[in-house]
Amino acid sequence: MLARIPSLLSPGELAEVRGRLERGAWADGRLTAGYQSAEVKSNLQLREGDPAAREAGEIVLRALERSPHFASAALPRHVYPPMFNRYEAGMAFGAHIDNALRPIPGTPHRLRTDVSATLFLTAPHEYDGGELTIEDTYGAHAVKLEAGDLVLYPATSVHRVEPVTRGARLAAIFWIQSLVRDDGARTLLFELDRAIRTLAAEAAHRESLVSLTACYHNLLRRWADL
Ligand code: NI
Repeated sequence: MLARIPSLLSPGELAEVRGRLERGAWADGRLTAGYQSAEVKSNLQLREGDPAAREAGEIVLRALERSPHFASAALPRHVYPPMFNRYEAGMAFGAHIDNALRPIPGTPHRLRTDVSATLFLTAPHEYDGGELTIEDTYGAHAVKLEAGDLVLYPATSVHRVEPVTRGARLAAIFWIQSLVRDDGARTLLFELDRAIRTLAAEAAHRESLVSLTACYHNLLRRWADL
């Protein structure tokens, strides 16, 4: 499932994140790429321990925590600390797949990447190119969102960032280990939750709502790993 979460960051948070990124020390993104990705990756990244990256990451994590849309779409178990990247004119990231497991910095734990996330930090008019292209069974989808918008997609998808031809594209990227590993099951739960919320807002038949809500929780009980 490809889910778009508009305005995850408020304009104030977006300005704070961008202010911190301006003070960060940008390094070659190949430093954190696997050997196969390194061949197709050309971008800049803030180092993981950079205080600017940590502070900006905390703003993003707080925004995720208060978003019911994110909780419903990702069913997060663990969220990887956001990483920040910058593509200037001529930079791109060719087709690749994200690693299945990632060590969580500063901990002895690893995260299974079920869901990949890109948070756009520059507006589409600030740069040309730079679409995030995601391939799934229905073909390739080019995603280029407003600053502050988040896109979630299955980490099982091959994806790429098209070459930037003007300006600079800033984004945060991170991964989620979901309570529900399977994308198909997670998608069913997301759609069921969305339908229940719509019906509840329309004050639909109460017993039917309770019964749909029971289905939601009983499926989640069946599928969630903790
Ligand atoms: Ni990737």
